[in-house]
Amino acid sequence: MTREQIQSGLGTQWAGQDIVYFKEIDSTNRYAKKLAGQGAAHGTMVLADTQTAGRGRRGHSWISPAGSSISMTLILRPDVPPAQVAKISLLTALATANAIRRVTGLDVRIKWPNDIVAGGRKVCGMLMEMDATPEKVASVVAGVGINVHQTQFPEEIAHSASSLDLLAGRRISRADIVRAFLQEFEQAWVLGDEAMMRAYCARSATIGQRVQVIGLNGTYTGTAEGVTDSGSLLVRADEDGGVREVLAADVSVRGIMGYA
Ligand code: BTN
Repeated sequence: MTREQIQSGLGTQWAGQDIVYFKEIDSTNRYAKKLAGQGAAHGTMVLADTQTAGRGRRGHSWISPAGSSISMTLILRPDVPPAQVAKISLLTALATANAIRRVTGLDVRIKWPNDIVAGGRKVCGMLMEMDATPEKVASVVAGVGINVHQTQFPEEIAHSASSLDLLAGRRISRADIVRAFLQEFEQAWVLGDEAMMRAYCARSATIGQRVQVIGLNGTYTGTAEGVTDSGSLLVRADEDGGVREVLAADVSVRGIMGYA
């Protein structure tokens, strides 16, 4: 996976016009935040073959084995107030799902808020971080980790993780996935809010499903009915039939029958 391979035939206006590549780095999100602080342009991508301290959501770590995964972070400078930044997280999931579908032909779906799943297993996770004042967003970094060539996983995630090669039954090119992601991202960026939300919901693995919400104060079951503009999941709880707004930061949501 080289910069030249990715940029050949890329054809975007801004996404990935500048790609900063590392054979090894601690975390592409950490480095992207540093570059954003130094004024890096909207659309700059930090990409690495492997990370030594990859970060996941909710304080978890993320494993990115050399030669078999994609670790990439896109630096964004959206002209929106901080309250609307959640949409960028949904948009990143949409662009990633579209890119993976286009390159692999797999029926991948988005497990709310932004895991990409196929065959009931997770192949990709995302971590969004922002630098903002209460009025203005200076930058958002959109970090995406994709399992591409892995054939084995650590025991803790062996039951719930997979890779694109395993699911597609053939070797998938990492450069093709990164290029498609940049193209799909730029297309999704200009969709209006409504069209973006419609497209996100159409790709969702969660909406319409029975789910288990695992929060700090306990667990409950219900049916996922939709996603709000601010990125929360709406769940109709079994116990009282009321609709509860679930924030991504607070909970883990699982399908009743397993991880996805
Ligand atoms: C999760 O599912 O917990 C989110 C995983 C996010 C991993 C990606 S890999 C590229 C970027 N750099 C990081 O340190 N994390 C994200």
